[in-house]
Amino acid sequence: MSIKIFAPASIGNFSVGYDLLGAAIRPIDGSLLGDVVAVKASDNYELITDGRFASQLPGHPDDNIIHHCHELFQQQLSEKAMQTQPVLITLSKNLPVGSGLGSSSSSIVAAFVALNQWYDCPFSEQELLLMMGQMEAQISGSLHYDNIAPCFIGGLQLMTNDNHICQSLPWFNDWYIVIANPGINILTKAARDAIPKAIKLSRATEYAQNLAGFVQALYRQDKSSVAHHLKDVIAEPYRYTLMPNFKQHKAKLLRMGAHAMGISGSGPTIFAVCSNRDIADEVHHYLQKHYNENECAFSYVCKLSGQGAQQLKEESEGVACHS
Ligand code: HSE
Repeated sequence: MSIKIFAPASIGNFSVGYDLLGAAIRPIDGSLLGDVVAVKASDNYELITDGRFASQLPGHPDDNIIHHCHELFQQQLSEKAMQTQPVLITLSKNLPVGSGLGSSSSSIVAAFVALNQWYDCPFSEQELLLMMGQMEAQISGSLHYDNIAPCFIGGLQLMTNDNHICQSLPWFNDWYIVIANPGINILTKAARDAIPKAIKLSRATEYAQNLAGFVQALYRQDKSSVAHHLKDVIAEPYRYTLMPNFKQHKAKLLRMGAHAMGISGSGPTIFAVCSNRDIADEVHHYLQKHYNENECAFSYVCKLSGQGAQQLKEESEGVACHS
């Protein structure tokens, strides 16, 4: 028997909530966009990797974040006086590393959910979130849950400054989110270093006003106000030069009718929010053609995914997340 968990791609920051907002996404064509971790019994512990982007992972399995997740999980089990067992872990690395789609979070979330199920769920959702956050911080250099939380729980998640860690926000089921990755990689740590460590008070006020206005408009289900507040005044001004022709593409997509366009997480994936399928398709075709640096580029028309990490049935074995 094996436990196989899929964890979806996510959009960190969602423009308006630097480090505080994130959305799980799913391509509408049914592709599984995210990593998969399988756990099964074995005589000895082993970690193996496959998937389209396995070659981007560290050469030695001990340097893989999944190995560290497994170590932390075992340590926490021991603290609960539970016995550990040797397992074979397989990571199917279907998201590119440094994509801006929560690639490390997807691996981390899939690993913890798979291990937790393997051991009959000894840890609560909150305990798992804390372990996942610890691992994400190890990779990116600072603690932020804006990819981990939506990837694990699904939906649009707002990080809160209390024990809950995050809270689900409403969204619009009829809106589309088009994502495009140009085929290059940007490491989160490098993209974080591009942002100044301190911001002016006027910028902080603008950030708070946009995020508060966005959240309030979501609860009122006021689409035009949501679109109006969907702005990034913290990261985009410093990161946009890392994305090929960002300003030119943004101007074009807004002219096509997209409500907003921004950087997904730390990039280079960009995303556009569209109110209907026609606009989403037009944006998708444009980005496929123009936001494309090499054969690794990809683009999808997506919707917000209400579901986070989920178990795959045996027949889903070998499912490729995108090609
Ligand atoms: N909030 C993070 C950032 C997302 O923008 O750096 C990427 O992990």
